[in-house]
Amino acid sequence: MLNGIGNIAYLGASALFILSLRGLSHPTTARRGNVYGVTGMLIAVLATLLIAQGAGLEIVLAASVVGAGVGALLARRVEMTQMPQLVAVLHSFVGLAAVLIGFTNYVMPSVQLGGTERIVHGSEIYLGVFIGTITFAGSIVAFLKLNGTVSGKPLVLPGRHLLNLLVLAICFAVGYRFLTAASSEDGIRALLEMTVLAAALGVHLVMAIGGADMPVVVSMLNSYSGWAAAATGFMLSNDLLITTGALVGSSGAILSYIMCRAMNRSFISVILGGFGASGTTSSTDIAGEVVPTTVDEVSAILRDAADVIIVPGYGMAVAQAQTTISEITRKLNGFGVRVRFGIHPVAGRLPGHMNVLLAEAKVPYDIVLEMDEINDDFASTDVVLVIGANDIVNPGALEDPASPIAGMPVLEVWKARTVVVSKRSMATGYAGVENPLFYKDNTRMLFGDAKGSVDALLKQLDA
Ligand code: TAP
Repeated sequence: MLNGIGNIAYLGASALFILSLRGLSHPTTARRGNVYGVTGMLIAVLATLLIAQGAGLEIVLAASVVGAGVGALLARRVEMTQMPQLVAVLHSFVGLAAVLIGFTNYVMPSVQLGGTERIVHGSEIYLGVFIGTITFAGSIVAFLKLNGTVSGKPLVLPGRHLLNLLVLAICFAVGYRFLTAASSEDGIRALLEMTVLAAALGVHLVMAIGGADMPVVVSMLNSYSGWAAAATGFMLSNDLLITTGALVGSSGAILSYIMCRAMNRSFISVILGGFGASGTTSSTDIAGEVVPTTVDEVSAILRDAADVIIVPGYGMAVAQAQTTISEITRKLNGFGVRVRFGIHPVAGRLPGHMNVLLAEAKVPYDIVLEMDEINDDFASTDVVLVIGANDIVNPGALEDPASPIAGMPVLEVWKARTVVVSKRSMATGYAGVENPLFYKDNTRMLFGDAKGSVDALLKQLDA
């Protein structure tokens, strides 16, 4: 009876997770999507307790209280700009959980299986621990890279693809030993050997990926964490975990594919890594002069314009300049200036980063356009205001085949009559690549913290 109710609850929770994913696909429905997800997870936890019929209730409740406490604290403390790091850490937890459950399942099996069933269950454990370890180790490296603790440059070892293949082949061989182990001691030894190899593989796979590809890696690890959860679901014969894991695994894979397409990269070339290793352009190779400007001059240029496009980037998020930018938009609208926003798919540090900040600042959705929707309009635009963006407006991506970001589609802001770039210095962006945009004839550099600059600009527009 309790099992029946629990299974119906699992079905409800799965439906809520699907609705949640659907809701999260657009800013207008994202809040509702979150509520669906939270409700689904609450039902899932309660149903699991119901099915377990009270076994280990105290431990689960204690773990839930500690987990919820840590989660709430992290969610309150973490800055929007640190979100990718947080996501990477959370993926590592899923991987670690899969590894620990795999080992526990092997050491303390709930039922003794024989023959084919034993082989199938052993394969589930082996696969779960393998994917879990890669997810765990890879996510820790992704966290360190995103945090700047480890360099964003790809680690390109000689013969690295062969090395990866060799490790994979050894893992297969060890897997055979694991499945045919005569004693549980032999089995554990094989499982431990594979864990060490998979950890090395996970570290190496992510170390080989350059900074500019990190967004894809984060969503790829998201996908891996889903498959690790699904494998755990098979180990524990838990249908909800299998469904949810498959949902996370496939949505992460689709997101990685969409991002690769947005960067004009093949998924395979991202996974194999090595991108961003050879930065050939230096500031001395770039023709042209940097022309600084002032708030007074920018205010005059904007008042005279008929059509303005604002391109926000990571620096806007760091400076928290979005609210003032929203006010500037309303002010310019009041002067009869048409203002729109151009959003690059990987602007900032996580998918949808800019959209969330602009929505928070109450910028209407209908003037926030995706790269494909606005890229053709720059040529007929009077002024482009680039706020703390760099890589996503780098013409080198299209014009310099030797550039580490060659081939990545960018917002073609330099085609506008005037481009104003607000940033603090001539420093490079995330990919560590020099930007020829800053040296173009029609570019003016508004140096200083973006918040300070736009606050002063708003004041000047008010005057
Ligand atoms: P970036 O290329 O990282 O450039 C940001 C610029 O903002 C920097 O050059 C910096 O120059 C400036 N900046 C920093 N703090 C500022 C402040 N307080 N005021 C004004 N300017 C400030 O950013 P982007 O153009 O948004 O491109 C995103 C990059 O991140 C891409 O390479 C992308 O691949 C990568 N990435 C994206 C994601 C996702 S999913 N979106 C995740 C990880 C990585 P100064 O130091 O001179 O001020």
